[in-house]
Amino acid sequence: MPKTKKNSSFQSIKGMHDILPSEQLYWEKIRKELKETAEAYNFLRIDTPIVENSDLFQRSLGETTDIVEKQMFTFQSRGGDKLTLRPEGTAGIMRSYIQYGLSHLGQPLKLYYDGPMFRYEQPQAGRYRQFNQAGFEIIGGGDEPIYDIQVILPIFRLLENLKIKNLIIHVNTIGCKNCRPAYRKKLIEYYKNHQKDLCKDCNRRFEDNPLRLLDCSNSDCAEIRKEAPAILDDLCNNCHKHFKSFLEYMEELGLPYELDSHLVRGLDYYNRTVFEIFTSGVSEEGKSFDLALAGGGRYDYLAEMLGGRSTSATGGAIGVERIVEALKLLKINFGARPKAKVFLINIGDLARKKSLALLEDFIRAGVRASESLGKDSLNAQLRAADKEGVEIALILGQKEAFSDSVIIRDMKSGVQETVLIKKAVAEVKKRLK
Ligand code: HAM
Repeated sequence: MPKTKKNSSFQSIKGMHDILPSEQLYWEKIRKELKETAEAYNFLRIDTPIVENSDLFQRSLGETTDIVEKQMFTFQSRGGDKLTLRPEGTAGIMRSYIQYGLSHLGQPLKLYYDGPMFRYEQPQAGRYRQFNQAGFEIIGGGDEPIYDIQVILPIFRLLENLKIKNLIIHVNTIGCKNCRPAYRKKLIEYYKNHQKDLCKDCNRRFEDNPLRLLDCSNSDCAEIRKEAPAILDDLCNNCHKHFKSFLEYMEELGLPYELDSHLVRGLDYYNRTVFEIFTSGVSEEGKSFDLALAGGGRYDYLAEMLGGRSTSATGGAIGVERIVEALKLLKINFGARPKAKVFLINIGDLARKKSLALLEDFIRAGVRASESLGKDSLNAQLRAADKEGVEIALILGQKEAFSDSVIIRDMKSGVQETVLIKKAVAEVKKRLK
């Protein structure tokens, strides 16, 4: 993030940052790639509000998740409603799907989105309180494992198209309503023997939601997790088949993956396939990095949890700030903003008025023109034209303004020619060819 001046009276809110003009090229490129990739894979755009009823997230993400317990920006509206700034996009999309009966748009319905999310986390590199996600969701049409792949593919290709290297997809399954209870029991048994070494949160959660213990970031808990039982041995037949086909598709496509038998993800709405995509490497400055760029999975029970009909679904989201961070670490740039080719110089009040109208003509004709209309001195304007590296300067002095003409100056050769203002755009276009 750009450095801030400590003595300015107002600072942006902790963990929330401005995206300054110098950073916008990254964002423009990512948004462009997102749109192109989503359209190539036949996803339709959806935008949901940033604010939703708090209950929506409590029910979807789970009462005993970090997000719901500690990270939601919740407030009361003037009307007394309890509202929350969305910490993620999936719950709002499923709410919208049920509210508008969107199943009629396609079975399955493929949706994509991007926008700001809010989590009250401890800010650190790559972790913010306001951050952006770009996500893909496939809702309805059955629970075929191929849909899990159809979510991973656009995410993976998007990252590849942005030239991010060393991508690896961590995958796991967390079973279904039928097989999870047995695994849950095993986990509780295992963790009972380690209770005294678990962090406070895990101690509180281990009977209600033992799966959460597997994604605790506390170092002691991470150590205990290493020996925890894996769900793969407890999968029911259907989940086993589902995961096997999923892995076969991954193989078929040659997607780089790694089985991570303790990957459970930090949200409760998941079942069966879960995944996270990482990039790692060493930056040009010799700094090693390992970034979690994206995550997702199947959430076949969410529609029902929100009062809708049973609807299979799967999806994933990318952290956009993390992509920007990876691009910076890898020194990947996307060129410079296109430069103006023409610079308008004016001297005197009448010339300034006419320059403004002439600038409009250039904008309408699609020729990028620059100016410093607020400046009076010819030298200052010539310096500005030089700095911008334009090919042509157009000079409107008092004499030219009275005769409705303008001087066209070739900046390289210094050759000048006077033409009528109404012919200026056509004459400039001829010279730019
Ligand atoms: P998530 O793993 O919580 O999943 O977030 C997805 C991505 O958002 C992460 O991999 C990370 O890159 C980024 N991210 C998360 N928290 C932060 C933060 N505080 N600061 C910066 N970046 C962050 C979800 O949110 C699910 N809704 C994904 C999904 C879609 N599952 C199914 N459909």
